Amino acid sequence: MSTYQVGYFVGSLSSTSINRVLSRALINLAPPDLQFTEIPIGDLPLYSPDFDADYPPEARALKDAIAASDAVLFITPEYNRSIPGALKNAIDWASRPWGQNSFDHVPAGVIGASIGQIGTAVAQQSLRGVLSFCNARQMTAPEAYISFDPDVFVDGQVTDEGTADFLRGYLTEFRDHVERVLTVLPRKS
Ligand SMILES: Cc1cc2nc3c(=O)[nH]c(=O)nc-3n(C[C@H](O)[C@H](O)[C@H](O)COP(=O)(O)O)c2cc1C
Repeated sequence: MSTYQVGYFVGSLSSTSINRVLSRALINLAPPDLQFTEIPIGDLPLYSPDFDADYPPEARALKDAIAASDAVLFITPEYNRSIPGALKNAIDWASRPWGQNSFDHVPAGVIGASIGQIGTAVAQQSLRGVLSFCNARQMTAPEAYISFDPDVFVDGQVTDEGTADFLRGYLTEFRDHVERVLTVLPRKS
């Protein structure tokens, strides 16, 4: 059985992030052949092309972490019907310098939690447009829009069996998607 290294981005910098809570639940529900490592985005400076000739250590670490991943998973809130600025900044760093786009052909998944009813649907559409341009190989179905209930996500566990089943299904489909993409587009070692 192959094991896939999944680098995951939490799109929130909040110390009480519900998306970080969701990330813990996802890790606990995932098939055993998915191994998760967070790719931090909070210490990145704001991207400017002025850095292209000499990336700072935080940005080099970001690109190294993506290179070491078989796949990436974005777990993000919705900010003003779009992607949080910190996450977009991280994607901009990873996509450059020109010709060294870290997301090229990388299997990718998108999921998010909000306190509202539409569960980050608009942010995810926005993120999908960005990832398309970055040539990431996105899982397009199933989609996962999580309307966060603190009674359901407790200490990394999911107390509602229907929600747990849904998330398990999402992760199993993600594993299959990663396997399919890597079969035709193996990652360079
Ligand atoms: C700047 C800002 C903008 C927000 N915009 C939206 C929004 O467009 N849609 C939405 O459902 N929730 C929105 N919210 C509420 C978030 O769903 C809520 O703050 C959530 O906890 C954010 O996820 P996090 O806890 O992982 O940071 C917004 C929150 C902030 C701070």
